[in-house]
Amino acid sequence: MNQIMSGLQGKVILITGGASGIGLASATVAAASGARVICADLSQTHDLPAGCEFRKLDVSDWEMTQALVEDVISRHGQIDGLVTSAGISRVGDLQTMTLQEWDQVLQINLTGTMLSARAVAAHLKERKQGSIVAVASINGMLGNPSNLAYCTSKGGVLQMVRSLAADFGLHGVRVNSISPGLIHTPMTAGLDQSPAYAGFVKQHLLRRAGEAHEVGNTVAFLLSDMASFVTGVNIPVDGGFSAAKVIEMY
Ligand SMILES: NC(=O)c1ccc[n+]([C@@H]2O[C@H](COP(=O)([O-])OP(=O)(O)OC[C@H]3O[C@@H](n4cnc5c(N)ncnc54)[C@H](O)[C@@H]3O)[C@@H](O)[C@H]2O)c1
Repeated sequence: MNQIMSGLQGKVILITGGASGIGLASATVAAASGARVICADLSQTHDLPAGCEFRKLDVSDWEMTQALVEDVISRHGQIDGLVTSAGISRVGDLQTMTLQEWDQVLQINLTGTMLSARAVAAHLKERKQGSIVAVASINGMLGNPSNLAYCTSKGGVLQMVRSLAADFGLHGVRVNSISPGLIHTPMTAGLDQSPAYAGFVKQHLLRRAGEAHEVGNTVAFLLSDMASFVTGVNIPVDGGFSAAKVIEMY
C-alpha cells in the first residue's frame, strides 16, 4: 500500500527506469502525492498510474537525455526532482565476465546516472532548488561474489552522490542515494530458485525481501520538502542487511 507523501504536490519528477520495479513504484507514490511524473525508460512494459507519462530514453545516450530534459522543461515548465533508477545487473567475476558486460553495466548504471544528473544540473541550479535521488544498492556498500561490474558501478554511484551533493549544495539542490536490499522486482524474479536465496534473505534482519513500494516511499521522502535539510546521504532500504551479519549462535 502506497503512502501519500506531503511536500510533493505540483512537483515535476523525472524518473529514469521509471517503467518497471523500483522506478515505477517511486513514480506511483510520487503521482499519488500530487506530482507530475515522467517515466523515462527503454520501453513501456507496464500500465502507468494516473499522473505518470512514459517517455522513451536510453540513459547511456547523452544527446537523447539532453533532448528529453529540454522537452520536459518546455512542456511542464520545470523539473523539481530526478530519480535515477535505470540499471542492469550482469553476473560474473574478474575472469568470467566479458569486457562488453563490464562496459555495459558501467555505461548504464554509472555513466547513465551521471548523464541524467548532468542534463538537469543547469536547470536545478538556476531555480536554486531540486532533489536528485540515485538508486544505488547494498552491493555498492558491500562486496558481493560474482557481481563485479554491478558492485563497482553502484559503489561509484555512492561516491558520485557525495561529490554531486558537494557541488550542488551551494545552489540549494539536494543529492542523495538509497541502497535497496533484495527487492521483489522484475530484476530479481527467478532468484528465489537459487540455492543461495534463503541464505540471502536471512541476512536481511527483517528476514524477508522488500517490496518495491517500500523503496518508493523512501525515494518519495527524499524528493519531497519533508527532506529539505537532507543532502549527501545514502539511506539503506534493506531491512537491516547492511547493519549486521546474521550469525545465529543460540
Ligand atoms: N531489485 C533489487 O533487489 C535491487 C536492489 C538494489 C538495487 N536495485 C537497483 O534498483 C534499480 C531499479 O531496478 P529494479 O529492481 O526496479 O529492476 P527493473 O529491471 O524492474 O527496472 C530497471 C529498469 O531500468 C530500465 N533500463 C535498463 N537499462 C536502461 C537504459 N539504458 N536506459 C533507460 N532505462 C533502462 C529497464 O528497462 C527497467 O525498466 C536498478 O538501478 C537496480 O540496480 C535493485
